[in-house]
Amino acid sequence: MDLGRIRTLEALPEEEAAGRIQAERDRFGKNLCVLAHLYQRKKITELADFVGDSYGLSKSAASFDGGKYIVFCGVRFMAESAAILARPEQVVLHPDPEAGCPMADMASLDEVRRSWNSLSRLSGTTVPVTYMNSTADIKAFCGERGGTICTSSNASKTFEWAFQQGKRIFFLPDEHLGRNTALKYGIDPEEIVVWDPEKTDGGEPESYEEAKVILWRGYCPVHQKFTVRDVEHVRRFYPKAQIIVHPEVPAEIVQIADAVGSTDYIRKYVAKTKPGDQIFIGTEINLVQNLASQYPDRLIQKLHRSLCLTMYQITMGRLLYTLENLETLERVVVPEEVRHFSRVALDRMLSLTAV
Ligand code: 13P
Ligand code: SF4
Repeated sequence: MDLGRIRTLEALPEEEAAGRIQAERDRFGKNLCVLAHLYQRKKITELADFVGDSYGLSKSAASFDGGKYIVFCGVRFMAESAAILARPEQVVLHPDPEAGCPMADMASLDEVRRSWNSLSRLSGTTVPVTYMNSTADIKAFCGERGGTICTSSNASKTFEWAFQQGKRIFFLPDEHLGRNTALKYGIDPEEIVVWDPEKTDGGEPESYEEAKVILWRGYCPVHQKFTVRDVEHVRRFYPKAQIIVHPEVPAEIVQIADAVGSTDYIRKYVAKTKPGDQIFIGTEINLVQNLASQYPDRLIQKLHRSLCLTMYQITMGRLLYTLENLETLERVVVPEEVRHFSRVALDRMLSLTAV
């Protein structure tokens, strides 16, 4: 990547960059598909072919039948998932290969393997389930061991699938999504325990045998920031407001919010509110701002300002640079042995939750 050129493109006025991005899109026509996560800058979402949460985008990537080039505006694990689901003749490009997800990086394959080996001493069967926000090798790890993947919009269905088979879940890497999903499913809090890879034997060796869900100690720095005080503050000054949060926030906040759901759930929730309504949202700031500008006739506010810095690394300039260099830029490549089993896990997820 030519960083000097990227900087020049990043300095362009937004409308000029948008015009040039559109010109590139016209040049490639059906050969190009731009996917954008809902946390992307507004202008990028306006220029994309598909905009959605990580579940919706993985379905779009799996079913997209035209197009040689898929450009993924989001973080690395999302672009990797698109590469896993793409057909052999398709290529996936990520406008900033350095834009990873800090939570996904909290579970390395070595640590997970070591932990899994320790857990293999437990009686009964344990199934590994990873959140989509994980690296491709963790997805493959789960696929190879009969496990699956979930996103924040289908986590409940995945838990149901595992529990119907009478299995204990080893959930990676987001402690909060795992706990919130287990609690929603009605699991006794005593049977939900944490595995801390930095502690000897996970830190709570006496509790794993009876556990129904073992949670990897990982978190999203963006969603971890929300606090009970944020909610209390809104309740005090905006008593009529509805508070909605993403399931990556800690459970004590979910318990006092009015609604909880994935990025797409939040989008649909807001779409159903009425003019004059007051809605405070506990999730990434770009989504909140995009919804606020889409519905100027209601008060849509952040619960607390929290920006995903790596999502924000995808700029209009980088998108334009990627489109101008589609044929020559480095592709997102997932090695075949990793691709195979991560595809197994992704297909299992898509079939479990097909609607
Ligand atoms: P969604 O599954 O809601 O798209 O969330 C992805 C994400 O990165 C949230 O932090
Ligand atoms: Fe990762 Fe959190 Fe950013 Fe989502 S918001 S990409 S989980 S760091």
